[in-house]
Amino acid sequence: MSEYVIRGGFPLAGEIDVSGAKNGALPLLFASVVADGACTYYHVPDIGDVRLALRILSEMGARVTRHDAHTVTVNARYLSPEAIPRHLTAGMRASSYLLGACLGRFGYAAEPLTGGCDFGNRPLNCHYGVFHALGAVGEGELHAPPGGLRGGTYDFPQVSVGATVNGIFAACRTHGVTHLHHCATESHVGDLIRFLNLLGADIRGGGTPDLVIRGRSDLGHTSFVVSPDEIEAGTYLLAGVASGGDVTVTGIRPCDLSALTNVLVRTGCLVDSAPDRVRVRRGENFRGVAVETAPAPGFPTDLHPPTVAALCFAAGKSQMTERVWQERFRYTSELAKMGAVFSREGQTLTVHPAPLHAASVTATDLRGGAALAVAALGTAGKTHMTGCELIERGYEDFTGKLRRLGADVSVLPVMSSCASGAGEESSEERQEKDGGDAGAPHGDGEG
Ligand code: EPZ
Repeated sequence: MSEYVIRGGFPLAGEIDVSGAKNGALPLLFASVVADGACTYYHVPDIGDVRLALRILSEMGARVTRHDAHTVTVNARYLSPEAIPRHLTAGMRASSYLLGACLGRFGYAAEPLTGGCDFGNRPLNCHYGVFHALGAVGEGELHAPPGGLRGGTYDFPQVSVGATVNGIFAACRTHGVTHLHHCATESHVGDLIRFLNLLGADIRGGGTPDLVIRGRSDLGHTSFVVSPDEIEAGTYLLAGVASGGDVTVTGIRPCDLSALTNVLVRTGCLVDSAPDRVRVRRGENFRGVAVETAPAPGFPTDLHPPTVAALCFAAGKSQMTERVWQERFRYTSELAKMGAVFSREGQTLTVHPAPLHAASVTATDLRGGAALAVAALGTAGKTHMTGCELIERGYEDFTGKLRRLGADVSVLPVMSSCASGAGEESSEERQEKDGGDAGAPHGDGEG
């Protein structure tokens, strides 16, 4: 458990460097399963979900070598697809990538128990739809048919980042040509395609909803730099807006933040950009706006909660319409404890102007927790937040970066559980003890 006390109500100012993207790093790390050689990754975010992903791969027999907090090599040559550590895969949604990666590499995938933030129903029908289009058999565990998987055609019934990733994983090592339509076009899907093509894959159409994938019987080794995290960057810009401050994020291209900065300009914020940085200051008249989330290139759903938190400080009403997730409004009940006033009609939330006050609140999920911190930074007094380990799943050095912007954030010591080491030691702990490669720091993230 992780608890913060945030004393807010004064402007943040300064600049912070953006870490590698959580949602970009996770598919890249699991992509090591379809490689026959070692993959080295740079600019990897040092976050709970990455540590958990590396632990899962290590438990399955991959050789994980941590060169430093942001550089890791994974060699999955001797990975066993049967050795799924379900007590770990249950900790995050990205574990589902093992389905496509193992199916593509081995023609078999055990069913990983997956977790993830609670946004209501999170089915895998699109994932299994593309697997079945390649001839795979099964509704949980997957097997290639006797003649092996064959290239096929699949039109995703709805845009799904995870299912697109899994379809690419399965098809890139499947004999024949696969056509995927209505694919997700988030920038990190494009990064994944570039990574796989560096391994020797033949994937065309990256950045578009239509992919053509010529399967390869083997893929090599490569290295790759994880792109900066636009959701992390946007969260800190929104913290600056909520506090009436002046925040710059560096190490990111303005175009990666354009969906957010276009909204902030409409609220009257001042946005300045340079090739590798974006600066946002709250304007004299910070006005409410209407925002609607959508798959890329629309407004990213993962910025919905922190954006609503910042709009709580605007003059006039705002609206947030959530078009990606069935139920992503749980965090609003915690913001209401701080005095925020909302009304909701279907998928549209209305933010009514109201003064916020410090309170005790609990993070409901990763981005919901970040939203509470954004609101607390704009609110006078000390807000006590619990459940902050959910934030640490996806934000590297969250409190440290806030402090670099002048925030007053304390991390409360949490009573260590009496069970110091729950469960038997993992393979990388054994590896460390017997002098093997430095194993991945132990996963402590949650899905
Ligand atoms: C990824 O989740 C991200 N997670 C999410 O970020 C992000 O919100 C989401 O993409 C949308 O951008 C990771 O990358 C680890 P989807 P994913 O499949 O792949 C429905 C964060 O905060 N759907 O694109 O699970 C689904 O229920 C996290 O960093 C089906 O109906 O999302 C949802 O309504 C939260 N059937 C919509 O599609 C399926 O088979 C989009 O889901 C798959 C999805």
